[in-house]
Amino acid sequence: MTLLSVPVIAVDGPAGVGKGVVTRWLMTHTGWHRLDSGALYRILALAAHRAGIPLDESQRVAALASALDIRFTGETEADEAILVNGENWTSALREETTGDLASRIATATVVRDALLQRQRDFRTAPGLIADGRDMGTVVFPDAVLKLFLDASAEARAERRHRQLSRKGLDVNLADLFAEVRARDERDRTRTVAPLVAAEDAVTIDTTVMGVQEVLQVVAALLKARNLKF
Ligand code: CDP
Repeated sequence: MTLLSVPVIAVDGPAGVGKGVVTRWLMTHTGWHRLDSGALYRILALAAHRAGIPLDESQRVAALASALDIRFTGETEADEAILVNGENWTSALREETTGDLASRIATATVVRDALLQRQRDFRTAPGLIADGRDMGTVVFPDAVLKLFLDASAEARAERRHRQLSRKGLDVNLADLFAEVRARDERDRTRTVAPLVAAEDAVTIDTTVMGVQEVLQVVAALLKARNLKF
């Protein structure tokens, strides 16, 4: 099987929209691998921050990427861990402040280029579920199915709040809402690989949908596209 014939499903959308739930459901139903592209941006941003590199010094940030040994372990949300150069960075990576750092470095072309091949390397048989912002537009433009999940900023801040609270993280809803809005603005207006639906993506506005309803829509799309597993 050539590399390009390994199928990809792209799941793009803004912060807190529920890409994780859809991605995990797709993984279970397909048995395919996952690329959590946001985690790569978070890791690089945190590594730069910890190394004292100013985040706007994009060349230096990008240069760090090749030195990072990144391992994703665990199958479920509960037991997943991300090891960076042998250290467990999982909880620091989940922090909303890390998401903010990530969106700052993500505006630079040199940084995005440094992560591009690394993301494409996840494309291994039998297939890949890729979640992020530019999976369908830039990283895997030939994806067999492109989903673009959207929801109001209010709904996403509330979901993120529930998710972080469940994980025992103490966050204030109003702060979270402000952070989600700021990150949206940065992601949508950047000139390189902005957060936008691919022309051939299916957009699902989940503002007033429950998880099961969203998953039913996704299941129907798989069926309609003849993506049977
Ligand atoms: O989980 P959440 O959607 O909040 O964020 P994430 O997917 O972990 O991504 C964190 C940040 O990395 C985003 O706000 C983007 O600025 C950036 N990112 C990106 O630019 N391109 C991607 N493919 C994934 C993330």
